[in-house]
Amino acid sequence: MAADFLPINGTDHIEFYVGNAKQAALYYQHCFGFQVVAYAGPETGVRDRASYVLQQDKIRFVLTTALQPGSEISLHVAQHGDGVKVLALWVDDAAKSFAETVARGAHPAFPPKKLNDEFGEVVISAIHTYGETLHTFVERRNYRGPFLPGYKAVDPNPEIKSTGLKYVDHCVGNVELGKMNHWVDFYEQVMGFNLLITFDDNDISTEYSSLMSKVVANGNGYIKFPINEPASGKKKSQIEEYLDFYKGPGVQHIAIATDDILFTVGELRRRGVEFLRVPDSYYEDVPARVGKIQEDLRELKKQNILIDRDEEGYLLQIFSKPILDRPTLFFEIIERNGAKSFGKGNFKALFESIEREQALRGNL
Ligand code: FE2
Repeated sequence: MAADFLPINGTDHIEFYVGNAKQAALYYQHCFGFQVVAYAGPETGVRDRASYVLQQDKIRFVLTTALQPGSEISLHVAQHGDGVKVLALWVDDAAKSFAETVARGAHPAFPPKKLNDEFGEVVISAIHTYGETLHTFVERRNYRGPFLPGYKAVDPNPEIKSTGLKYVDHCVGNVELGKMNHWVDFYEQVMGFNLLITFDDNDISTEYSSLMSKVVANGNGYIKFPINEPASGKKKSQIEEYLDFYKGPGVQHIAIATDDILFTVGELRRRGVEFLRVPDSYYEDVPARVGKIQEDLRELKKQNILIDRDEEGYLLQIFSKPILDRPTLFFEIIERNGAKSFGKGNFKALFESIEREQALRGNL
């Protein structure tokens, strides 16, 4: 096999453009248990924006808001609502990552640039992916600051307790009808990713709503990007609903891993995070379908956590309701016990649940 031309160490951070970063930061702190670790804004000499960096274990979210109308950030928020702008990838060589991907056809966002402060140097570059989303390459081996040059460290708030969230497991993009294969080709050819799994509308369809999905992963498997497109059904697909409200392609959900989903989901619920529900009848065939698991099925049922098994093990997962008033972005919480798949056995129950919510919004 050819050498990996785009080695990636992991997800560096995910940046959201939001209408009010100060308030969104409180949501991620108090509902999800993130700490604010760094900040940039007028107080640090940045005139056009404010950015809060939130961290929990290996997960780093950046919430950025515009301070004036008409900027790239405020226009993005006006168009899409709050959403993911950047899926940033941690690399050892941001210049090479940019050169290799642009040589293979990536549309450049900005060429490599060096950022410096008293903690050292970071090199960043960026390319475009679906919609208005960017992949930034972040090289930080010569940097010891709290986030990036220009950000000041923020002391942890001792009142904020972790909910056990560990790392980003996968990030899912929704693209227009007929565009899934285009973006799968992009990840394969431009970024050197491999196609892991294909789901067609026989796997993922209910009476009303169906979708097609392919999962691509980078060489070491640390980065997994499922790409969805709508498939035709009797009524509006959940992917179409997303595209209608996000006004184009974008990140649909971010899956975050935990080692103890019962603890994590219990805490998230207690702090106000809302999840999709499946009917109690979902649990009737779980023992036959999934076999032996370590967790108490009654506890999983009480928390409405879903279970699936593949050849390598099993997984536990649950999906939040959209975290915005527009039915766009949501979170998945996942605990893997060997399984490397994505919960195909849960799709039907899940999509029926999504359709109930769509119907309540008048969008089915
Ligand atoms: Fe997922």
